[in-house]
This record gives sequence, C-alpha cells and structure tokens, in this order.
Amino acid sequence: MARCFITRTLPGSAVERLSEAGHAVDIWPERMPPTTAEMISRIGGAEGLLCMLTDEITADLLGSAADLKVVSNMAVGCDNIDLIACRDRGVHVGNTPGVLTDATADLALALMLAISRRLPEGMSAVRSGDWKTWEPNFLLGMELRDRTLGIVGAGRIGNAVSARARAFGMEVIQSGRPDGPTPGLPLTQMLAQADIVSVHCPLTEETRGLVDASFLATMQKHALLINTSRGQVVNQTALAAALSNGDIAGAALDVTDPEPLPSDDPLLTAPNLIVTPHLGSATNRTREAMASIAVDNLLAGLAGSPLPHPVI
Ligand code: DGY
Repeated sequence: MARCFITRTLPGSAVERLSEAGHAVDIWPERMPPTTAEMISRIGGAEGLLCMLTDEITADLLGSAADLKVVSNMAVGCDNIDLIACRDRGVHVGNTPGVLTDATADLALALMLAISRRLPEGMSAVRSGDWKTWEPNFLLGMELRDRTLGIVGAGRIGNAVSARARAFGMEVIQSGRPDGPTPGLPLTQMLAQADIVSVHCPLTEETRGLVDASFLATMQKHALLINTSRGQVVNQTALAAALSNGDIAGAALDVTDPEPLPSDDPLLTAPNLIVTPHLGSATNRTREAMASIAVDNLLAGLAGSPLPHPVI
C-alpha cells in the first residue's frame, strides 16, 4: 500500500481504482489549487502525486517529498514540472497525451470561427439592443474557405486542426525546419502567407515568447492569431500593441499568462480579442479519459512498472 496525494477532485470514477488497489488516497477538496505550503504539508510521506497544470512541481517541493516515486500530470503539457529535478531524484513523470487532441482541435476551430465571424461583437449587440435590423454591411467577417491557415507546432493537435481546417476548404501551411520532425516553411514565410495563424507548440525555452513584436509584424494586417497551447508562448504586451495598432486584425486566446488574467490587465482592453478560460480539453469525455490515464500512470509508477505515458 502506498500513499498518494491528488491535487483536485477528478472527473469520473478513475480515482476509485487507486483505493481498489489498496492505496491510501488523499484528495485536495477545494476548487482552488493547494498553495505550495499546503502541498508541502500534504506531500510528505506520499509515494505518488497526481497533479494538474496549475500545480508548480519545483525542486523545493520535491525536496519535501523524499518518498515520492511518481508524478502523474493530468495534462499533456508538463511545463509546470521541473523535469530535470524529477530525473535527478529518480521520480518518474507521466502525462496524458492523445486523448485531448480532438477536444483541443475543436476548440481551436471554435475560436477561429468566433473571431473570424465576429460572434462576440454580435452577441453583445443583441444583448445591448444595438442590433436594430438586418443590414447589408453589419458585422461582416471573414469566411474560412480558400483562406490559408498557418500552423505553428504541427504535432498531434496541430495536425488535427489542419484536418478540420481542410474540411472547411482552407489551405494549410506549417512552419518547421526542412530537416525537422515536422518539416515546413521558414516561420517568417509562413506568417507572411497565412490569413489565420494557430499556435500548437509546447512551452519550452525555445517557444517562450515566440509570438513577439516581430512575429506579429510579419503577419498580414487582416490576419488572426489563435492560441490554444500555453499563454507564455505569446508576448502579451506585443500582442496588445499589435491589436491596438491594427498590425493584425484579431486574436483568440484560450491560454494566457497568468491564468486568469487580472481584470485590469491591459490586454483585456485590446480590440478584437477573445479570451476563453483554458477550455481546450474541457469536455466530459476528454477530462474523464485524462483522469483515467493519469491514474494508470500513477498506478504503474507506484508498482515500479514502466508508465504507460512517460515524460521521463
Ligand atoms: C494540457 O493537457 O496541457 C492542456 O492544456 C489541458 O487543457
């Protein structure tokens, strides 16, 4: 029997498999994540940790969890975890790839359609009474057919977005090194051609701040930016300026830095911007599948077996 700490109540019934396997399960019951101090006070003596992308798993935290064998992240992105510190301590790390691909790709398309067809403006015109009648020139937007979608990060989710975009009649191009795992156009060439740019790369030291002033200046003035990856990939000051100056036509972000943005964050006053609350994987089916994989990884790590979805 092992002790495990789970940092939030999980959807579905996957968590029951831990107690059925004889493990002692401590579940953080609050809606807000545990603070670092709360984590430290709960994690001592635990051999397994099932955490969320909102939990910072630092070297210091690992130092207070001498018995920890496995960290199972209920997310595909693991930028919240100090992977080097885990490796140095012999702590296995697992994630939940694959099962959230379709839900996240659907959301990217939803954002593309919402920003290109000006849905938030339309909804607020209906609610405020500003919409008086059908007009030939009211809220005209951009159709997807025959437009070019530029993908940054042509992995599982980027490819699923491409497939959906092609079904809408879009041409898809992607950035990438000619000799890289997903070859494509040089980034600047791709940005200069795309009508919509959709970001799907993981957050790494290479991609942090990738969408900066020069990235945005290379995009076409009528182009739209979609981000469903991680907020830190976008320099938000540069984005706010590009939207205000009309350097790009609009942006739809499911992820920001921080999350949530403070209500007085200058980005929120930028024109033609949609911000949603990190909903990429937020469907019942996907979240239950993520919880189930996270439990699989945890059980394997506790048993000393290879994780089904290892990160390290
Ligand atoms: C992930 O798994 O990394 C997603 O951001 C969760 O929605």
